Amino acid sequence: MTPSPHHLTWLIALAAVFSVATAAEPYREPWRPQFHFTPPKNWMNDPNGMVYYDGEYHLFYQYNPEGDKWGHMSWGHAVSKDLLHWEHLPVALREENDVMIFSGSVVVDWKNTSGFGQDHKPPLVALYTGHHTQKPHQEQHLAYSTDRGRTWTKCAGNPVLDIGEKDFRDPKVIWHAPSGRWVMAVAWPVNRQIRFYDSPDLRTWTHLSDFGPAGSVEGIWECPDLFPMEVEGKTRWVLVVSVGSGAPAGGSGCQYFVGDFDGETFTVDPSHPKETPGQKDDPALWLDRGPDFYAAVTWSDVPSRDGRRIAMGWMSNWQYANDVPTTPWRSAMTVPRELSLVATKAGPRLASAPLRELSTARGPAQRFGGGTAAEATAWAKKAGLRSGPLDLTVTFAPAARGNAGVKLFVGDNEETVVSVDRDKGLAVIERTRSGAVGFSPRFGGFATAPLADPAGKVTLRILLDECSVEVFVNGGAEALTALVFPSGDSRAVELFGSSEGPTVSDIEVRPLTSCWNPE
Ligand code: FRU
Repeated sequence: MTPSPHHLTWLIALAAVFSVATAAEPYREPWRPQFHFTPPKNWMNDPNGMVYYDGEYHLFYQYNPEGDKWGHMSWGHAVSKDLLHWEHLPVALREENDVMIFSGSVVVDWKNTSGFGQDHKPPLVALYTGHHTQKPHQEQHLAYSTDRGRTWTKCAGNPVLDIGEKDFRDPKVIWHAPSGRWVMAVAWPVNRQIRFYDSPDLRTWTHLSDFGPAGSVEGIWECPDLFPMEVEGKTRWVLVVSVGSGAPAGGSGCQYFVGDFDGETFTVDPSHPKETPGQKDDPALWLDRGPDFYAAVTWSDVPSRDGRRIAMGWMSNWQYANDVPTTPWRSAMTVPRELSLVATKAGPRLASAPLRELSTARGPAQRFGGGTAAEATAWAKKAGLRSGPLDLTVTFAPAARGNAGVKLFVGDNEETVVSVDRDKGLAVIERTRSGAVGFSPRFGGFATAPLADPAGKVTLRILLDECSVEVFVNGGAEALTALVFPSGDSRAVELFGSSEGPTVSDIEVRPLTSCWNPE
């Protein structure tokens, strides 16, 4: 029998059903993060438009609706009640008329200064960069929503801010209460400057001042954030600036400045590290010194009764983001982090801690009360500890010399090593033999963070997911975030240390349950 066109259609349909049935289930594929945000499929980069409104945290994100590499940039969208469990919503803002939707922010226009509000409800207003694809031009655009962010209208008067530049992007808007005006921080990437503007209505913007170049200037500047924080009873201002290259672990990263903002000008605190003549890169402060923390900004409009300043970054690096071996999605966000400003001997510094709500996704704790590294490894084996979604805190006993650490995702010739190097005074993450590493020559081996007291007790809180390790050193004074792509059966956990006596003074570990899959 010769198959009729009708038969062929059936055969094709059957083949499609079969291939869907055999494909991995969503959120159960190899390396699929279980408590980090990922889009169901396709490419994602920066978090955008993070805002809390009417019981929901919104997350928009740089998204390619058409593929798993960077392109056709649009805003993907999801909402959550707890910043851990997310509901995916349709694409909020799409590339249109040769204008891509680049990074930006959303505010609740409580006083309806923009006039877009309806029925006595404040509008959500997005300020984002319109990136022209047919000419070298970027400018700031506005869109608004009057239905809790479900649908968006691009403003007829776009652009709302245009200085005729090829590179001018990533507006972050805040309400500046003392002056009763909106303030925008926006990157002038090639100049290594952040420009500040103000506005009474989110539509007309007046230039105030520029900050930079300062700190790390090797790479272009992107994705600023500006927010106040209390320290020792005083309000200080933090300016976060992402840099396209030259970050401590190589490639892109996130620096910050502490200082003051008077409604017009940002002035950096004298305690910011000074430039040393002859030093290769300028001195800078970093939100995270690992390779995979970029474009981090904070949620707007978190209720004052909560009071937290919550940041989230894109967990990748422009050096290899397009090549990481995951499918059908590419890239995850970091765990949301609670920021605090801490007084240190060197001056006010940011500390970060994993979102408190993570405790709601934790299973029962297992504990090791202290001993040698070999005893700790034997305990881990007996306890059935396996690398995967875990919240693991290891405290290393004080030691004058040598090193100690924990090996994760251990298997045949594979390991990811998180350690303390007493001689160099560093916390270290090494992924040289962490699994799939060959997809890019720039998927680097090491990242380090300085220890305030190299010989003292060191506590490492490690959040492990299917393809990432986030290390919070000594209560979050430093953080190290790195992607890893271990083989499926590389799951052992081992402790090691160069000292004879007790190396590990304490281990507490809890499994993290999936925020995506029903148990
Ligand atoms: C940062 C960035 C932004 C830009 C966006 C484009 O990762 O380069 O400056 O708006 O990504 O996707």
